Amino acid sequence: MRTVHSLKELRTILRGYRQQGKTIGLVPTMGNLHEGHISLVRKAAEASDIVVTSIFVNPMQFGANEDLDTYPRTLVEDQEKLAAAGNTLVFAPGVEEIYPQGLANQTKVVVPEVSEGHCGASRPGHFEGVATVVTMLFNMVQPDIAVFGEKDFQQLAVIRKLARDLMIPVEVIGAPTVREDDGLAKSSRNGYLSEQERGIAPVVFRTLRHTADQLAQGRTDYSILEQEARDALSEAGLRPDYFNIVNSLTLKPASKDDRELTLLVAAFLGTTRLIDNLSITR
Ligand code: PAJ
Repeated sequence: MRTVHSLKELRTILRGYRQQGKTIGLVPTMGNLHEGHISLVRKAAEASDIVVTSIFVNPMQFGANEDLDTYPRTLVEDQEKLAAAGNTLVFAPGVEEIYPQGLANQTKVVVPEVSEGHCGASRPGHFEGVATVVTMLFNMVQPDIAVFGEKDFQQLAVIRKLARDLMIPVEVIGAPTVREDDGLAKSSRNGYLSEQERGIAPVVFRTLRHTADQLAQGRTDYSILEQEARDALSEAGLRPDYFNIVNSLTLKPASKDDRELTLLVAAFLGTTRLIDNLSITR
């Protein structure tokens, strides 16, 4: 498995694969890889001949008060895990390679509608940063397929829409959330949790499941259910950012007739922001 840091080198290698008629799969990440990321690499390897995993902590998607500086950077360990999972090529560019003119002068991609609300409301500019870097990665790698996790449900919706709206010839594939045994969604940010916080964290998924059960029993009083879920999170010691019951496709507040529902949650545990979601069909 090779690792390249420059776009020029990436393009030279990918040209060779393409001339051999190989299909290319892309898995964009910010590194500090866990089994969730690795499941995407395996899925990409099933769907394409060559798998490119990008590792880039994208400054454009971090807010001023967020964890850009402390975000874990673990390239050597990441490379070992990727090699074992059947990855072909790692693209690990520096910030100057991606934003040579700086962030302020960079052309940006804005995705309306699905970027609004939820994490889009709590993290202004976040999805612009994600949409911009993912569009650039699509242009740099020109993959046939690209795999993203359902763990970041709104992000996946944003990426599906940008690929469609900008006519980017890539098939966007979603992959299910990989969880710890106690239900906590795997995340690079779980490493920030203290032992005590780690004990509380599974409440997020438990609350999602409890609410999904209530919906399955026919409840449609969504705002009351949302408030009950926020209260449950608060009682467990979390600080809920949002708990929203939405239409799975539009990410707008669910109506009584909607059959495909998704519960979206973000909550702080100490200074760590956890997100999760659960989709149900009624
Ligand atoms: P990152 O948080 O590193 O996640 C990279 C990919 O892994 C995303 O598609 C995310 O949804 C997926 N992922 C994370 N945890 C997962 C889990 N527990 N189960 C399954 N998949 C999981 O998301 C980003 O990076 C960035 O925003 C990026 C798309 C790379 C753009 O910078």
